[in-house]
Amino acid sequence: MSGTLNPSDGARHATILGIGSYRASRVIPNAEIVDAIDSSDEWIQQRSGIKTRRWATAEETVQMMSVAASRKAIEHAGIDIAQIDAIVVATVSHMFQTPAVATAIAHELGADRPAAFDISAACAGFCHGIALGSDMVRGGSAKHVLVIGVERLSDLTDVGDRGTAFIFADGAGAAVVGPSDQPGIGPVVWGSDGEQFDLIRQREDWRDVIAAENPRMPHLTMQGNPVFRWASYAMAKVGQEALDRAGITADQLDVFVPHQANMRIIDALARSMKLPGTVKIARDIADMGNTSAASIPLALDRMIEDGEARSGDTALFIAFGAGLAYAAQVVVVP
Ligand SMILES: CC(C)(COP(=O)(O)OP(=O)(O)OC[C@H]1O[C@@H](n2cnc3c(N)ncnc32)[C@H](O)[C@@H]1OP(=O)(O)O)[C@@H](O)C(=O)NCCC(=O)NCCS
Repeated sequence: MSGTLNPSDGARHATILGIGSYRASRVIPNAEIVDAIDSSDEWIQQRSGIKTRRWATAEETVQMMSVAASRKAIEHAGIDIAQIDAIVVATVSHMFQTPAVATAIAHELGADRPAAFDISAACAGFCHGIALGSDMVRGGSAKHVLVIGVERLSDLTDVGDRGTAFIFADGAGAAVVGPSDQPGIGPVVWGSDGEQFDLIRQREDWRDVIAAENPRMPHLTMQGNPVFRWASYAMAKVGQEALDRAGITADQLDVFVPHQANMRIIDALARSMKLPGTVKIARDIADMGNTSAASIPLALDRMIEDGEARSGDTALFIAFGAGLAYAAQVVVVP
């Protein structure tokens, strides 16, 4: 006999209730890495805007940094850990193919058996997680979702590779997404361009690594220049679409938090989108490097701490990276 199922019953709107971050503790200046890649502090600063980056110690694991960032986000949200009913972790540097690091994070946080899973969307992962969290809260599959962006890219970086050694870094950021009276997370604009799959990727797949005579870590490789051109132009359109879909103009935007990949990309995007001078722009890359999925929450958390972003402000996120994959949305700062 057929019957009618109950519909899922979610909140009318979703918002970011709290945010937290963790910065890996080793400060690595350009001077420390230039010899291995025949480069200079001047070249790295001019081309990327990076002065120093953070690399993790042995104790600062993906799980440890995630838990530290999450505790701050949960405290900022003013909820109890038991109220978290789903944990979504965006990362490419958890070294187990399975199980997901999300389950271990849930256990260490003392959460009450939440749904817990990892997603792989590289540098765009955190914005994918925010989109999922928003839809889960509104769709009724969770009331409070903890979204984490975390990377230990120093493990995946070849310190002798000129194209990547000065870029990648380590850290974690987390956000609690929950129900609200007003929309706090605008419609996501996201997509991918798989034709450019090879531009940023792990060098070999694991079977080739194991079959090699002298197995070596399958580090990340990147063809920087085409990625740079793609990000500087295509992502401005994506950002504009996110503003349009949220129903706000650049004049109504308070804060711009693009993925922290390169200071010149950040400037090019702000220029192309004609953001007014009043918009505060995240520039965390200068002393953090590119922390991939962690870069947006790390940058926003610092702006909140410094008083540059205030509760109730509108902020535009744009994230992009390997895949190529991208996602953007306007959010209200918690
Ligand atoms: C990596 C990046 C900083 C390189 O800057 P670029 O301006 O594109 O530099 P290019 O690769 O065109 O190289 C320019 C010159 O610098 C040289 N060069 C490359 N790497 C160098 C290094 N580390 N130090 C010194 N010189 C270097 C090149 O050999 C080239 O020399 P040539 O002009 O004599 O041929 C830039 O491409 C970038 O940031 N790309 C995007 C990264 C990104 O957004 N990733 C996102 C997702 S994670």
